[in-house]
Amino acid sequence: MAIRKSVAVLAGAAVALAAFAGCTPSPTPSASPNTESGSAAPAGDTLIGITMPTVSLERWNNDGKGLVDQLEKAGYKTMLDYGDNKNEQQIQQIENQINAGAKVLVIASIDGSTLGPTLAKAKEKGITVLAYDRLIMKTPDVDYYATFDNYLIGKLQGEFIKEKLDLDNAAGPFNFEPFAGSPDDNNASLFFQGAWDVLKPYVDSGKLVIQSETGKKAASNWQDIGILEWKATTAQSEMETRLNSYYTDKKVNVVLSPNDSLALGIAQALETKGYTPGPEYPVLSGQDGDKPNLKLILADKQSMTVWKDTRLLAAQVAKMVDQIVKGETVETNNTDTYNNGVKVLPSYLITPEVIVKDQIQEKLVGSGFVTEDDLK
Ligand code: BGC
Repeated sequence: MAIRKSVAVLAGAAVALAAFAGCTPSPTPSASPNTESGSAAPAGDTLIGITMPTVSLERWNNDGKGLVDQLEKAGYKTMLDYGDNKNEQQIQQIENQINAGAKVLVIASIDGSTLGPTLAKAKEKGITVLAYDRLIMKTPDVDYYATFDNYLIGKLQGEFIKEKLDLDNAAGPFNFEPFAGSPDDNNASLFFQGAWDVLKPYVDSGKLVIQSETGKKAASNWQDIGILEWKATTAQSEMETRLNSYYTDKKVNVVLSPNDSLALGIAQALETKGYTPGPEYPVLSGQDGDKPNLKLILADKQSMTVWKDTRLLAAQVAKMVDQIVKGETVETNNTDTYNNGVKVLPSYLITPEVIVKDQIQEKLVGSGFVTEDDLK
C-alpha cells in the first residue's frame, strides 16, 4: 500500500466527519508523488490505481476503503487518491498512477467527459481502465464499467413519490420542487431521467405543480436544475431561494432530491423556513444511505433513501480487477446499455434498494453497513 493512501483515507475520514458535523471541510490533502514508485511498481507486485472524486461525501470514503481492503487481501498493491471534486487534480492523480506503473486504473470520475487524453496515455502503456460508479464518456480508452443501476435509482425515487402521495387517486394538486445532481456527472442525468419518466405525466396533468421558475426548467433541460459538485450548501441556498420566492403563502408538498448530500441541504432549508416533521412536512427523497441522512429519516425529516451497499460494488470491482490481471473472462451482466458516446461498455450493474425508516435497523444495522452508535 502506498503511504499516500493511508494519509488520504485517514485525513479523508476526518474531513468527512467535519463535513457531517456541519463544518467546512478543509482541502483534501494532496497526494504527493509516491517516492517508492516513480516509474514502475516493485517487481512481483501488481499496482492498482484508484481515483475517487472527493472525501467530503461519506460514500466515496466507504468505496475507497472497501476497494483497498479487498484488493490488498487479494495480494495487490494499491494507490488511492481523492480529487477534492477538482477535475484537474484528478487528472494529475491518474497521470501519476500511470507513471507509477499501475496495471489497472479504477476511476470514479469527476468530469467523466474530460479524461480522453489521459486515458489515451494509459492505453499506450497497456493499462486496463474500469469506470467506477460513474461512466467515463467520449473515449474509446475505457474498458469496463461497474455501477449500481443508475436509471433504476431515479425510477425508484419517482415511484416512491408516486406511491407516497398516491398520485393516481389523491385529488392534489401537490406543490413539487425537483432537484438534479451535478451537471458534469453522467449519473445525474440517469437519476433524473428515471425519476422524471415516472413523474412527468403527473406534472403534465397538473397533479404535481412546480411553483418555482428554476424547478420548471426541469421539463426542458435537467442540467438547468443541476447542483454543481453535488454540494449540500448549494442545494440549501437554492431551496431557501425557492421557498422565499414562491412559498410565502403556500407549502411545498414534495421535493425530488437525487441524493443524500442534496437532501441534507434541502432538509436544512426546510427547517430554517419552519417546516417541522408531521403531516405538512414534504416528501423528500435521497440516495446513498449516508449516516447523517439515516438520522434525518429516523427524525422524519427525509422520507427515504436509495441504499447503495458500496461493499457489494467494491467486492465486484475487486473481482473484475483480479480477472483482468489474470487474463480471465471479466464478469459483466450488461452489454447493451451504457454507451459512452464512442462505444458501449461491458458493465456490471448492482441493484439498489429503497430504505424507509422502519427498515434501517434490520437492513443497515443488521448487515453491518452502519452501527447503532452511528445513528445516535
Ligand atoms: C453517485 C452518488 C453520489 C453522487 C455525489 C453520484 O455519481 O452515484 O452515489 O451521491 O455522485 O457524489
